[in-house]
Amino acid sequence: MTVPPSFDLSGRLAVVTGAARGLGAAFAVGLASAGADLVLVDRPGADLSPVVAAVTRHGRTCHPYSFDLSDTAAIAPWVDEVRRDRGPLHILVNNAGVARLEHFNEITVAAWREVMRVNVDAVFFLAQRVAEHMIADGVPGRIVNISSKNGLMAEAGLAHYNASKGAVELLTRSLAAELGPHGITANTIAPGMIATPIDGDFSLDRQAFEAAWEERIPLRGGYGTPDDCVGALLLLASDAGRYINGTHLVVDGGVLADQMPRLRFMPPYRSTL
Ligand SMILES: NC(=O)c1ccc[n+]([C@@H]2O[C@H](COP(=O)([O-])OP(=O)(O)OC[C@H]3O[C@@H](n4cnc5c(N)ncnc54)[C@H](O)[C@@H]3O)[C@@H](O)[C@H]2O)c1
Repeated sequence: MTVPPSFDLSGRLAVVTGAARGLGAAFAVGLASAGADLVLVDRPGADLSPVVAAVTRHGRTCHPYSFDLSDTAAIAPWVDEVRRDRGPLHILVNNAGVARLEHFNEITVAAWREVMRVNVDAVFFLAQRVAEHMIADGVPGRIVNISSKNGLMAEAGLAHYNASKGAVELLTRSLAAELGPHGITANTIAPGMIATPIDGDFSLDRQAFEAAWEERIPLRGGYGTPDDCVGALLLLASDAGRYINGTHLVVDGGVLADQMPRLRFMPPYRSTL
């Protein structure tokens, strides 16, 4: 792959959380293909080795870490250790996230806290500590937080998840406002329906659910793949996105653009050419 100079990430070190699978794995390999070296983190028990191998195949250095991001108090010391051992951090991709499907009245305090600890607390406190190092190192840092279309529009059965992603949207804009003066940008990517194992435990009629979504997504092809989100990241993480700060990039095939799939109820498209 030939990367235009402004998308070139040679000499940059990127931290990607939740990198063992799904979007995080695609983000790590995509950043490596653009020239970045990688720090990968996932929770204990997750196997990072296939992603490490894919990154090194691109000729990039890769440092895997096993770390549970829900241990909020341990985040700052961990970031300090990574900075000390690996050098200045240029890019942070806050990708790790969890989702649960349950009625609003069935959400326990423990479940609410679990979702908030990973999706909100870890995102904020990682960004907080990494940004301090970026400022101290004088690097033009890039923070990219992965929110969701659910951070912009709600969906039943996901009250905690929706709330967590809404928080990611606003905390990212807060970071953009405070870090902009230091030359550091903060933005979100808001993916739509991307085929990953994140909803594997959801108790629902999966076939009917996925068929309904396939019909609901305007763009031909239905569900997206993790690779479909990589271009957005390379823009926001590189010099090409230098002036993009405090906004979100929706990568959803047009779901949020279309209130209701009315086309389904209209006569089929006919060319007027
Ligand atoms: N897949 C989608 O359709 C979709 C849509 C919108 C947003 N997102 C968001 O994209 C991000 C990635 O989602 P995905 O679909 O790839 O999910 P996934 O479940 O496939 O991957 C998430 C990764 O995060 C890791 N992780 C979870 N908790 C962790 C913790 N406490 N400490 C360290 N690592 C932890 C997991 O082990 C896993 O490797 C999430 O923030 C998710 O909310 C996904």
